[in-house]
Amino acid sequence: MELAHNVARARALFGASERPLAFVPTMGALHDGHLELVRRARGRAATVAVSIFVNPLQFGPDEDFAAYPRDAESDRAKLEAAGADILFLPEARELYPRGFSTLVEVGSLGTAFEGAYRPHHFRGVTTIVAKLLNIVAPDVLVLGEKDAQQAAILQKMIADLNIPVDVEMVATVREDDGLALSSRNRYLDETQRARAPSLYRALTAAREALEGKRSKEQAIARGRAALAAGATLDYLDLVDPVTFATLERSEGPALLVAAARFGTTRLIDNVRVNA
Ligand code: PAF
Repeated sequence: MELAHNVARARALFGASERPLAFVPTMGALHDGHLELVRRARGRAATVAVSIFVNPLQFGPDEDFAAYPRDAESDRAKLEAAGADILFLPEARELYPRGFSTLVEVGSLGTAFEGAYRPHHFRGVTTIVAKLLNIVAPDVLVLGEKDAQQAAILQKMIADLNIPVDVEMVATVREDDGLALSSRNRYLDETQRARAPSLYRALTAAREALEGKRSKEQAIARGRAALAAGATLDYLDLVDPVTFATLERSEGPALLVAAARFGTTRLIDNVRVNA
């Protein structure tokens, strides 16, 4: 696996790489969910590029930027084993030099749900991913379904800005008890870890109710009831997977989305509804 620590070296490597080139952007602290993205990229492309960059622009002032897990050596070994060809490890001072002031925003899609709880988060995500796409210039961008709103926003940005890249979505990887893999799961203490799978149970209880022709209110109530005591639900709702507009019933493609706090750790998850 070749390494690039700066933009010039990255451009040289990506420019000389065999096409198609598939790209997996990450913030490191890699788990099997990330590696599944790399494996999918491997199946789609001649060259697989991964970036690791803990993007300061997508963290709020009270969020976990400083504490976000950083595990460079172990990440590198996992990526080698999963078959990545190029690892891009940019530095914040090169990506955001003094005077940097251009931001990419997608509008209302970025202010609902996660955007309401994490103001400016998505504008940080779209700005860094637009920059990375300009540097890497991949043929395929590989994203995980777990971050469904992020994926919808990035697809909107790609369409609105005519960025020539295909998006490949990969299903969420879960622990045996249903908990979606996330780098933030490592913040959970034993009690919180035992409660955390109830987020997925809340979503599946709501989905079963909708698929059993219950009303949305009944479905959401069933979902709420399935969440462990001691967890705090930020939202549980039915949305259009593309626009994230709230839906009253699931007649076409629909997504149940949820976020809950287990102690200070905030987890998100979603499931598709086929009602
Ligand atoms: O999902 C993530 O890990 C990040 O939001 C991303 C897409 C790498 C941008 O920093």
